Amino acid sequence: MSFETILTEAPSPGVTLIRLNRPQALNALNSQLLDELGQALEIAEADDAVRCVVLTGSERAFAAGADIKEMSEKTYAEMFRIDFFAQAAQRIERFRKPIIAAVAGYALGGGCELAMLCDFIVAAETAKFGQPEITLGVAPGIGGTQRLTRLVGKSKAMDMILTGRMMDAAEAERAGLVSRVVPADKLLDDVLATAAKIAGFAPIAVMMNKELVDAAYETTLSAGVAMERRLFHSLFAFDDQKEGMSAFVDKRPAKFTGR
Ligand code: CAA
Repeated sequence: MSFETILTEAPSPGVTLIRLNRPQALNALNSQLLDELGQALEIAEADDAVRCVVLTGSERAFAAGADIKEMSEKTYAEMFRIDFFAQAAQRIERFRKPIIAAVAGYALGGGCELAMLCDFIVAAETAKFGQPEITLGVAPGIGGTQRLTRLVGKSKAMDMILTGRMMDAAEAERAGLVSRVVPADKLLDDVLATAAKIAGFAPIAVMMNKELVDAAYETTLSAGVAMERRLFHSLFAFDDQKEGMSAFVDKRPAKFTGR
């Protein structure tokens, strides 16, 4: 399938790379882009050969926010009726395979929220994160107030959201928003290598690990630990557990099959 506002590639077996591609608008998220991103994720979800997705933008911007030009004339009735942003956010929230955000340049407003919807964020040294919605007279609308607060804590989230200021990559790493910072010219190679590594592991185990970490945000400690124990037990029903453990004992690389 061909898209107009995103580009998709398969840079290595099991890995899908999705690039946001509206350079004239610093990858601002308009309805078409969000729709196409949703479609690309449907395709990646349905394809058993896809094991990990990388979402990236350009050197200048991951995404500079929701498209302000598209939103500026919208009424409350329209926003409510179409449940603006709900579909796109929910598509990513229910994506079951790992999705990594590779962020260079601006990740602002909806762009920062899109990155936070991913499983983790790797940032180039050039990355700048922010929730500047307050400067437009609105509030974040794709989960920013909730996810930023969980990731960086109340004090820094309040500072960012109430002032609209940007955070550079070093501050984002210190605050726990990003998993690591790499030189800008190494960003994509680094994240694609990480994705290829994940794609090489037992796919059911990968999906269960993702579900378990996500559960830590949604449930109590005891319920999360109980869920972990059960899923851990269930992994012993798969050939991949036998293969992974025998390969360790035999001192050879494991060959996972997804069974
Ligand atoms: N929506 C629509 N267009 C955008 C945009 C956005 N969020 N961000 C940038 N653009 C467009 C600019 O209008 C400009 O287009 P023209 O050439 O047609 O004028 C083009 O991208 C390049 O941008 P700038 O000329 O402004 O580039 P700059 O380097 O001077 O500044 C910037 C870069 C600081 C990121 C600045 O563009 C900016 O502040 N953008 C808006 C950031 C923002 O407020 N984002 C939040 C949006 S609201 C939101 O996201 C709500 C939500 O939570 C869901």
